[in-house]
Amino acid sequence: MNLTEQAKQAVGKKAAEMVEDGMLVGLGTGTTSACFIDSLIERCRQGLNIQAVATSQRSEKQALHGGINIIDVNSTTYLDICFDGADEIDPDKQMIKGGGGALLREKIVASMSKKMIVMVDESKCVTKLGKFPLPIEIIPFGFPSTIEQIQALGFKGQIRTTGRDYKYITDSGHYIYDIVLPSNEVTLQEVHRSLINIPGVIETGLFLGFADSVIIGKADGSIEITS
Ligand code: 5RP
Repeated sequence: MNLTEQAKQAVGKKAAEMVEDGMLVGLGTGTTSACFIDSLIERCRQGLNIQAVATSQRSEKQALHGGINIIDVNSTTYLDICFDGADEIDPDKQMIKGGGGALLREKIVASMSKKMIVMVDESKCVTKLGKFPLPIEIIPFGFPSTIEQIQALGFKGQIRTTGRDYKYITDSGHYIYDIVLPSNEVTLQEVHRSLINIPGVIETGLFLGFADSVIIGKADGSIEITS
């Protein structure tokens, strides 16, 4: 097991300890979230009683397989808490998410949660977002025009594929266009606003103002929690 893997497991375990009996919990997507779900399964086996909704089919399958009580997301309008990973996070807890292709559901789940806990290893902590491409979820209907409109705003990018040129399709049936964040003075809020104004854009991977606490796994095995 490499250091990053160890950090993810430690972070996932710490996060699972924050879950309390009776909570409605949002389960994130990605390798760090998978470590969290594993630890949560362990806690449920020891008697923790919770209900959960998942941000992806992958996470739902893992949780169900481990015996977590998964409920229909449409049976509630709120969640007590959600736990998710990030591709990059800055000191203001602004994030790029969607590397795992689940950004739309992740943002919906984060928006219905009273609290969002972000779980990262320290390689994800950056002073400025933008090294990691920003995923934009777009609707297949009219997608070449949507991409042209994104490019007309000055963003360069590429449609996400799964290996052999097949377009990656999200759990909600959309495509993902990964763009390079501009290094100029445009704010992240402006970037998000300009993109979301394009009719075929369904969501951006910029999570601004969602994270309440961040659990950071360090290479030396220690854990830092910031809020
Ligand atoms: C999925 C995500 C993930 O949280 C993000 O990609 C981090 O994943 P990992 O924990 O595997 O590094 O946003 O859409």
